[in-house]
Amino acid sequence: MKTLTITRPDDLHLHVRNGAVLKMVIPHTARQFARAIIMPNLKPPVTNVAQALAYRDEILQAVPDGLDFTPLMTLYLTGSTPVTEIKKAAESEHIHAIKLYPAGATTNSDSGVADIKAVYPLFEAMEKHDLPLLIHGEVTDEQCDIFDRERLFIDTHLTAIADNFPALRVVVEHVTTKEAVQFVQSTGANIAATITPQHLLFNRNALLAGGIRPHYYCLPILKREVHRLALVAAATGGSPKFFLGTDSAPHLTSLKENSCGCAGCYSAHAALPLYAEAFERAGALDKLEGFASFYGADFYRLPRNAGTVTLEKTEWLVPASYGEGELTITPLKANESLSWQIRQV
Ligand code: DOR
Ligand code: ZN
Repeated sequence: MKTLTITRPDDLHLHVRNGAVLKMVIPHTARQFARAIIMPNLKPPVTNVAQALAYRDEILQAVPDGLDFTPLMTLYLTGSTPVTEIKKAAESEHIHAIKLYPAGATTNSDSGVADIKAVYPLFEAMEKHDLPLLIHGEVTDEQCDIFDRERLFIDTHLTAIADNFPALRVVVEHVTTKEAVQFVQSTGANIAATITPQHLLFNRNALLAGGIRPHYYCLPILKREVHRLALVAAATGGSPKFFLGTDSAPHLTSLKENSCGCAGCYSAHAALPLYAEAFERAGALDKLEGFASFYGADFYRLPRNAGTVTLEKTEWLVPASYGEGELTITPLKANESLSWQIRQV
C-alpha cells in the first residue's frame, strides 16, 4: 500500500464554534493536527484576552482522551479594541494573532472593522509587539461583484497596509485569486497566506454548474479555473509564504440547505486527505510536508511538531453527514470517495 508519513501538521485557520458543535468537530481536527489557529468569530465574538482564555478552556475540554491538541487563540478586532488589549494579547502565551474581518464581509462579521484606516493605531501596536494580523481580504462594497471582492481588497487596503507597516507580520487568509498569490509573492517574508482544500480542488463550477450545491459555498467564493491553478502552483511550489489553513467552517445542514444558505465548507473530517489529493494530482506529494507541517509553524515562530502522521492510499466513502437530528453537519465530499485516509493510531 502506498503511504505518506509527514511531521504532524498544524491547521493555521480553523473555525470550531462552541457548545455541541465544538464537541462534534474537535475530534476530527485533533486526530490529524497538533495545533490550530482558532478563529474568533463566535456570537458574540472573542474580542479580549479573558474571553479567548475561557474559549481555550472550552476547546481543551472537547479534546478526546489520548489525543494531544493545542488551540492557538486569536482575538477579533473591532473599531473599539483598546490598544492596551493588543499589548495584553502579545504578552499571553496563548494568543497568537489578531483577526481582521471587514464589517459585513462574512459569517459573524457584523462587529468587524468598518473603517480600516481608523484601526491603523492598532496595526502599529501589533507591529510593535510583533503580533501577527490575520486578514479576511474582501471588500464589502455591495456594488462590487462578489467574484472581484478579494482582488479589489488588495489595491484598496492590502498594499497600503504592507507599505505603512513594513515589519508587521500579516497572513492573507484563504487566498482565492491569482492576484492575491502574486501580491503575497511580491512582498517580504513578513507577509504570507493560507490556502484551503476547497480552493485547491474546485473551481466555481462545483458550486454552480448543473445545479446549485450549497456545501461548496464559502467566502471568499470559489473562483475560475485560472485562479485555482495559481493556488495549486503556489501551494505546491515549496514557498514558505503559503501554508495550510483549512477554513473548515461548520454550519448545521439545515442552515446550509436553505433559501439563504450560510457561507462555509466543513472540511475538518478529511482535511489532510483532501490536501493529499490536491498535491498528488499536481505531482507534488513531496511538497505536502513543508506546506502542512513546517511553513506555518515557522511563520508563527512556533517549534515544528514532534511526531508524525501517516496517510494511506486506501479509498473510503465520506459519510453523508456527521451528528444526528437537528445537529447534523454535511461535510465536504459527502457521499463521495477520497483516495487517501489517515492511519488510525
Ligand atoms: O465561508 C466562510 N465561512 N468564510 C468565512 O470567512 C467565515 C466562515 C465561517 O465562519 O463560517
Ligand atoms: Zn475562516
